[in-house]
Amino acid sequence: MSDRSILLIITGGVAAFKSLELIRELGRAGVKSRVILTKAAQEFVTPLSVSALSGEKCFTELFDLNDESEMGHIELSRSTDLVVVCPASADIMGKAANGLANDLASTALLATDKQVLYAPAMNVRMWQHPAVQRNVETLRADGAIVLEPDEGVMACGEFGPGRLPEVSRLKEEILFALAPDKSLAGKHIVITAGPTREPIDPVRYISNHSSGRQGYAIAASLRAKGADVTLISGPVSIAPPDGVELVKVETAREMLAASEAALPANAFISVAAVADWRPASESDTKLKLKGGEEPVTMAFAENPDILKAISNHASQRPDLVIGFAAETHELHKHAQGKLARKGCDWIIANDVSGDVMGGENNEVTLFSKSGAEASPRMTKSRIADWIAERIAKALS
Ligand code: CTP
Repeated sequence: MSDRSILLIITGGVAAFKSLELIRELGRAGVKSRVILTKAAQEFVTPLSVSALSGEKCFTELFDLNDESEMGHIELSRSTDLVVVCPASADIMGKAANGLANDLASTALLATDKQVLYAPAMNVRMWQHPAVQRNVETLRADGAIVLEPDEGVMACGEFGPGRLPEVSRLKEEILFALAPDKSLAGKHIVITAGPTREPIDPVRYISNHSSGRQGYAIAASLRAKGADVTLISGPVSIAPPDGVELVKVETAREMLAASEAALPANAFISVAAVADWRPASESDTKLKLKGGEEPVTMAFAENPDILKAISNHASQRPDLVIGFAAETHELHKHAQGKLARKGCDWIIANDVSGDVMGGENNEVTLFSKSGAEASPRMTKSRIADWIAERIAKALS
């Protein structure tokens, strides 16, 4: 890490003092910090203490002619490996999410072409305010890393999420962002996602509400670790992650054929919400109302179980086969049952009796033959990272 450097933007907040310890800790890991202090931050820490710790000049003003001739704000924002905003106030995230630039910190954020990592810290009500959450979402959609704040008693006496994470975690996240883990390079992973669509006639079908979001997030996390990812997807309205090979399918039978065609693979992950049944026959012409009072009946045929088929593949079974299970009750019992029935190596189960479906957050339990491990409650993309880390370990 000895040749890495960050541009650290410290914004106003009681947690600003922790950034001083962060500068020291990063320095011990060989990472240099060049620092911008906003006006509000200077109420909490001084440019002198920052310079003493970083060993570098501390930048504060946008239109300082001396600074601009030494190092302009554009160069400041680009001659670095990573931009870190810590603590990140609601104000700076609001500016960055909306492209505003009226001081050195916000101008540097707009001018940078580097990855930006925000470590938010603010009052719990501010953090939970829809406007702040909207800005966080925008920043993430723009490619920034926004850490989840810690939960606990705040300086203002209230309790909840909003605290700046501990310096040890901040350091770990920064080191990770500086040296991305490519431990899945050279591994081929096949993943199914989204719903399947089973035709009734040329204009009708049966399907389900799966959005494909969790599966797409897992594909993105695996790709970020360097895996060659084949994403076999039913019809969804979200864009595929960069760099993955997308195979679009509609029916369960097409999904099975595409999954088998994508082998050999090191791992197969079945996240798709495969329709269990399809209409026993598909009409070539649109079915018409009969106008009678008799109930309309339809015969269904069972769809192939894709996960089971890949788990029991005679010649090309991947080293690691993973299924998912969304359950509303008796999570452990059903997950263990599926593990045995499908012949896969892991079942990742979640309890969907609460607000998980369509929501931002999720928590899962990973069941394997050797036991169960529960994740913390996190955003769906962090859950995807949590799963990808375990896959990387299992395939190493
Ligand atoms: N699955 C599959 N093919 C099917 C049905 C399910 O590959 N025809 C996979 C899913 O992608 C998931 C796992 O099997 O990884 C469990 O799916 P789930 O719908 O929870 O289980 P089912 O076997 O359908 O059991 P049940 O609906 O009774 O819970």
